Formats: sequence, structure tokens, C-alpha cells
Amino acid sequence: MTEIIRIKDAKDHVDEVVQINGWLTDKRSSGKIAFLQLRDGSAYFQGVVVKSAVSEEVFETAKTLRQETSLSITGTIHEDTRSHFGYEIEVQDLKVVGDSGDYPITPKEHGIEFLLDHRHLWLRSSRQFAIQQIRNEMIRTTYEFFNQEGFIKMDSPILTGSAPEGTTELFQTKYFDEKAYLSQSGQLYAEAGAMAYGKVFTFGPVFRAEKSKTRRHLTEFWMIEPEMAFTHQEESLQVQERYIATLVQNVIDNCAYELTLLDRDIDQLRKYTQLPYPRIRYDKAIEMLQAADFDVKWGDDFGSPEETYLSDQFEQPVFVLNYPKAIKPFYMLPEEGRDDTYVCADMLAPEGYGEIIGGSEREWDYDKLQAAIEAKGLDMNEYGWYLDLRKYGSVPHTGFGLGLERAITWICHLDHLREAIPFPRMLNRLKP
Ligand code: 4AD
Ligand code: MG
Repeated sequence: MTEIIRIKDAKDHVDEVVQINGWLTDKRSSGKIAFLQLRDGSAYFQGVVVKSAVSEEVFETAKTLRQETSLSITGTIHEDTRSHFGYEIEVQDLKVVGDSGDYPITPKEHGIEFLLDHRHLWLRSSRQFAIQQIRNEMIRTTYEFFNQEGFIKMDSPILTGSAPEGTTELFQTKYFDEKAYLSQSGQLYAEAGAMAYGKVFTFGPVFRAEKSKTRRHLTEFWMIEPEMAFTHQEESLQVQERYIATLVQNVIDNCAYELTLLDRDIDQLRKYTQLPYPRIRYDKAIEMLQAADFDVKWGDDFGSPEETYLSDQFEQPVFVLNYPKAIKPFYMLPEEGRDDTYVCADMLAPEGYGEIIGGSEREWDYDKLQAAIEAKGLDMNEYGWYLDLRKYGSVPHTGFGLGLERAITWICHLDHLREAIPFPRMLNRLKP
């Protein structure tokens, strides 16, 4: 029996006869030779069919294959120094598994709406392949990193009764005779977890009814939310920078092929593995923006031009610390000696990608937290359990949230968040 291998393992089988199960992405043929571009979900490479070396039937089949026909190929692996993959297969036998009709995504350019309408097929293209492989590596690294750092993964519910990040962006649904909301963040549950197990992280889909049509907003995205008992801001920032540097390092180490498919500048990425990352206060950020003639005043939130300008002043991701209370959620800890700021931080990614992490110290005093909930006009009945955490052995604690798609978009250097998730959900897009 011929061994079935995946294309990515071709390097271990040079000069061996193997079987590859995959699909045709493109082909060229002349009277004597056919070049088949193949993919099997692990990599892309070329199959060469020489007329004089195969049966007439195999050569005729090769010549008539259509894009996305599925195939089983038997042949010999050779080095191929002209391709950046480095190997090819010299075909001896070829069987069609499933024919393919008029595949809608051709090698020519397509408009973005067309591609999004065909997302279920677009995922097969080499760029999308590279992005999903890198996404997978980042998810794998996330579990590995936090487990090594002593965190446990704790799942938070998707159907909830509370609104941690403000009530304007909630998806509401019926829950029998009650109202429920799709989770905006697992944080409040992660805080319960931190009081139970010390260090936890949640990782799951979160939902925000963002009416904004920007390159940075999805209505459904995946968030990683670590939460740590007995910690203050600086300790949280150190976990954040170690985590981001590890994500980047592992992508460099384990996804070199994918980064090449994306034309990502790897030397640029290497800069992000250097620690520590710079830290500036929000106050200072406002001064920097004003000095550069931005029309901002203390108290304003940053839009994407402001974040881009700030991050352009640094070579690495930068932390902006201690934002005004008015633009952040109720659960944050006020800064000592100031009545207008919280102990919090956003991490801004370089190269114009903006905020990738938001985090803070949490208010851990019962009365002050209750007052903050009241001040925001939130329904106290929904937060009784959350207040309990401040009633029974409350401790200083911190946490943060990384938007997975924001981080992927930056690491892969994409134009838009929509390619960072297999099936993006945005204003006006619920299908496929
Ligand atoms: O800054 P946010 O809203 O913070 C929280 O949700 C906190 N509960 C996190 C925590 O402390 N546990 O969101 C966190 C991150 C942002 O920095 C951004 O990367 C991402 O989530 N994000 C979005 N990503 C895609 N589409 C959107 N609409 C996003 N909104 C936020
Ligand atoms: Mg934020």
C-alpha cells in the first residue's frame, strides 16, 4: 500500500512514491506535459504529469480537470527549487474523486462582496488558508501560554442577563418568558472564576450590536479574557506583553510558510517579541495628539486616526494607561489621588491596527461598586451575584480582553477584520 501523506510533509518523503488526497486549484498543459496546482488543506504545491510517463487515460484526465475537482494522486516527491514551497510531485496515477462544475472563484480579481457571498468557498484560497492556519496557531498558543502561567480555562455563558460593556450594543433575545442578552464579554464570570481558582481565562464568542461599518468591528468576535486575583495593574501589563510576544514568536516559528503566502514582513514582526512594551498615560497621549494638531481635548475617546498616530510613535505595541472615567465601563477601579481616571490600560498595536487589548484593575469594594452600578443606571437585580464577589473575601484583581480577530489582522497585516474569522458577522452580513 502506498503511504498517504499530506503536502506539508513532502520534505520527509523525497524520492518516495506516495499518495496525496486533495483538490486542483489551477492547471496548465501543453501536448506533452501538464502542471497541476494542488492543495490538500495543509499546503499548496505542483504536480507534474509527463505524457510519456503515464497512461494515455491519466494524461487525458489531467488535461481536462477543472478547478476544485477532488483527486487522489500517486507519484514521486522531488525537490523543486523554483517554487517557494520547495517540493513537487511527479504524477504516476491520478483518480478523480469528485468532479467540479463552474467554480465561481477564478484566479481573476473579484469584488469583496462577491467573495464574502462565497465565503464557504473563498476559505480554500491560499491567503485564506494562511490566515486560518495562523489563527489556529494563535489559539493553540493561547491555551499553552495560559496553562503554563498557571491559569485554567473557564467557560462563561453566552446567554446572559447582564451588560458589562454598556447597554447600547446588546443583542437581545427571548429566553422563555424572560429577556436575555448575547454575551458582550465573559469578564464578570471570569471575576467569579478568579475568586474561585485564582487565575482563569475565558475564550469564546462575544456579540456587539455595532452599527459602525469599520475595518475594526465585527458583531460577533472571539475574545480571550484572563482574570487574576491578588494582582495590580503592572502585573497584568506584564502578563499581557508576555502573551502578545509569545503569540508573535510562535507564529514566526511555526507559520513561516503561511507568513510567506501573506507576504508578511517577518523582520517587522520580530520587533514585537522585544519586551517590555512602552507605557504612556492617557494624559500624555492627549498632549502628544494636541502637539500634532489633532482636534482632541482631555476626556475624548480615541478614534482610529488618533490610535494610529499614537502607535506610530513607537516601534512596539504601546500601553495607554488610565483613561477618563466617562469613557470606560463601571467595573474599573478609580485611580488613587484622582477623581477622574481609572486604573486601566489599552494596548495599541503598531502599523495602524489600533486597540487590541482592553483591561483594568477592578473595583473590589462592595459599596463603591454598588454605587458605580447605580450611577450607570444598571439593573441592580442582575448584578447581585457580581456584588457577592465583593462581599465574601474580596481582593484586588485585574483582567484584560484580547480581541482575537484584531490580533490576527495585525499579525497577518490584513486590511480588514473580516478575513480574520471564518464566517464574519457584520452590519448587513449574516450569510453564509
Ligand atoms: O475593550 P473591550 O470592550 O473590553 C472588554 O470587553 C473587557 N470586558 C475585557 C476585560 O477586561 N476582560 O474589548 C476587548 C477587546 C478590544 O481591545 C478589541 O480587541 C476587541 O475586544 N473588540 C472587538 N473586536 C472586534 N469587533 C468588535 N466590535 C470589537 N470590540 C472590541
Ligand atoms: Mg476597549
